Amino acid sequence: MNEMQQKVENCYKQLREKTDFIPRVALILGSGLGALADELEAEAVVPYSEIEGFPVSTVAGHKGRFVFGKIGKTPVVIMQGRVHYYEGYAMSDVVLPTRLMRRMGAEVLFLTNAAGGVSRKVSPGDLMLLTDQISTFVPSPLIGENVEEWGTRFPSMDTIYDKKLRELIQETAKECQIPLQEGIYLQTTGPNYESPAEVRMISSLGADAVGMSTAVEAVAAVHMGMRVCGISCITNMAGGSSEQPLSHEEVSAIADRTAPLFQKLVTQVIEKMI
Ligand code: HPA
Repeated sequence: MNEMQQKVENCYKQLREKTDFIPRVALILGSGLGALADELEAEAVVPYSEIEGFPVSTVAGHKGRFVFGKIGKTPVVIMQGRVHYYEGYAMSDVVLPTRLMRRMGAEVLFLTNAAGGVSRKVSPGDLMLLTDQISTFVPSPLIGENVEEWGTRFPSMDTIYDKKLRELIQETAKECQIPLQEGIYLQTTGPNYESPAEVRMISSLGADAVGMSTAVEAVAAVHMGMRVCGISCITNMAGGSSEQPLSHEEVSAIADRTAPLFQKLVTQVIEKMI
């Protein structure tokens, strides 16, 4: 067993001492979107800090715990707060939680994040369904020895965001009368926001939104054969296109405001997943 696999197994063993819950869906909640997990009737809660060897998030507004429970009839594991590359962890550690949730049994990964809008398709307060992504600006989480039990050395990224799940999300949004844009997400390392010149570059590459997470988790999940879907909450236009310099507080405030719609959509979609 290689070092990374051992690390995942070690975390898995510790988790299994705390709960025997088997999730079907893994949901990662981004900045300001964590409230969904508070409303769930949890069957188990495990703070990341109680799992030795697990990367702990240090970002304000990220709680840092696994919440296990059912949304409708669907058993889910929710990450209330994720780990980011800019916190200084190796990329293999950034995706360790994703690998761990797969190890617990999750077949679907539902990714969410707060993101800056880049194209004219999106405005602050919008929800954007991810159709594809650009992860070229961050190291691949698959660098290093390949673990064959997880997946193949050279996995295809033809369809990162599962078509059926995308349809389900679009249908559900229509039923709930929740406006939902679609677009391409680009991941940067962060933690700094983008300069106006960088935003022009990102826009010219065809991305609609930019953020500091998600794409590498999607790559690791696809590597392990999970079905992946994702929604961005557009909290601002990227690169200081507003009067005031962009701040984490602004991002969190808009995420808070959009949270009720976001929660409704995510909940309804997950209920239908089983
Ligand atoms: N850039 C990068 N990440 C973000 C942004 C942004 O403008 N807003 C929220 N997350």
